[in-house]
Amino acid sequence: MPRLTIDSREIEAKAGQTVMEAAREHGIFIPYFCWHPNLSVPGNCRICVVGVEDKGGEWVEIACNMPVAEGMVVFTASEKVKARRKATMEFITLNHPVDCGICDKAGECTLQDYHFEYNGERSVSRDAKLHATKHFDLSDRIVLDNERCIQCTRCVRFTREISKSNGLGMLSRGDHSIVRPSADGAFATDAYSDNVIDICPVGALLAKDFLHQARVWYLKATPSVCPGCERGCGVNLWHRREEWMLRSPRQAARNEGIDRVTPLDNPAVNGPWICNKARDIPKLLGRVRASGALFKGSPAPLEAAVLEARALIAEAKRPAAVVSSWASNEELQSFKSAVGTRFALVAKRDHEPQPGEVVQDELLIRADKNPNAAGVRAALGECAREVPKDADLVLVWGEGFDFRAVPPGAKIVFLNAFLAPENGHADVFLPISIQTERDGSYTNFAGVTSRFERCFAAPAGVLHAEALFPALVGHGRGA
Ligand code: SF4
Ligand code: SF4
Ligand code: FES
Repeated sequence: MPRLTIDSREIEAKAGQTVMEAAREHGIFIPYFCWHPNLSVPGNCRICVVGVEDKGGEWVEIACNMPVAEGMVVFTASEKVKARRKATMEFITLNHPVDCGICDKAGECTLQDYHFEYNGERSVSRDAKLHATKHFDLSDRIVLDNERCIQCTRCVRFTREISKSNGLGMLSRGDHSIVRPSADGAFATDAYSDNVIDICPVGALLAKDFLHQARVWYLKATPSVCPGCERGCGVNLWHRREEWMLRSPRQAARNEGIDRVTPLDNPAVNGPWICNKARDIPKLLGRVRASGALFKGSPAPLEAAVLEARALIAEAKRPAAVVSSWASNEELQSFKSAVGTRFALVAKRDHEPQPGEVVQDELLIRADKNPNAAGVRAALGECAREVPKDADLVLVWGEGFDFRAVPPGAKIVFLNAFLAPENGHADVFLPISIQTERDGSYTNFAGVTSRFERCFAAPAGVLHAEALFPALVGHGRGA
């Protein structure tokens, strides 16, 4: 194990590590643009320079591509290093438009942060800046501002090394270098394309859905789990901070919506990546909600509807329950202890792959498009796939059920979060909360349990299934 000294601190590195890796592992910060822990090392931005003590004095070299060596003495902030970093920042920003005021990346832009940290002065150039494409459509999802690009090639390497679409490349040389998609259109169909937005260190790659929608400091991130498939990737759901709530009645609904989704690095599940389906969680969960209880399609008072459902369940001789694989582990436990033993249990896939969707691949995407099928198996054991033909009551929990499978004459109690025609088919319909309105956890296909946290309060008149189940067998009120 090589021992080296960084800024007068002696550390023990791992053999084969670079100075950048060893420093980071010991909490010592060295700036970087092009380096990324999950990508190859191109060594092109030069901001990570450090000084190394030598017989002839101190020489300066990039830390991201320099292997550690026994007895090495490294300086991260010597005068030589500071001068080189300042010059590098001057160079990188030579043709940069500095339009931070209208850039979505402002507030989380590495270029902005490093400019203040390592340069902080006006441009010394007297020449006019070179211009490049300001708004280039990379895909239906992403827009590229070539003037802001610092040619770090992170996005290019991502499509080569991680998503493997080879959808992006660098054209031309020097200050004419520009990122462009490959001619075969592979980037537009890359199921992981939006990760380049996160890893771009500047505001060159931007999500069209989020373009000019909010400053990032208006938002806060709530840790959550993507419900898009049984991988259960960690995600951050970004939504308005209390102090930045929109006050215009026309925009009030945006206070209760998710503005953007980014990966939550979970090495046991997804690492730092997510697929594009997770970015579309706002659309998935933002569908029109079911807002009131129904008796055969007619509006009913919530409390009366819970009592009626409870009466129907009490009267049933052969009840069956169709269990949601979007249910949280906590809801499943509540279900199991309240009603599980009396019912014939049927496991349901609430969502199936949609036309055009990648069904399964080798990176993250799984064929089962439900977050907690493994949680259902763990809580309830192997359930039947079909409703018993002699069931006289069917409790349906969640979406994706074909109501033609209900035996003729059987009563139906239906719990659903979204507005749907089938809500009106049930003898009793009860509206329930969605993932962003409660805390909970899912267990993924590999047995890893991940927690999600509440972003918003549930709307008035909507029940939490976890509290509702005891009420359906008489242990509580549910509402
Ligand atoms: S677009 Fe962003 S990630 Fe891609 S090369 Fe330019 S700066 Fe780097
Ligand atoms: S792989 Fe599955 S869980 Fe992960 S982001 Fe994509 S849809 Fe969501
Ligand atoms: S981070 Fe080392 S050269 Fe870019």
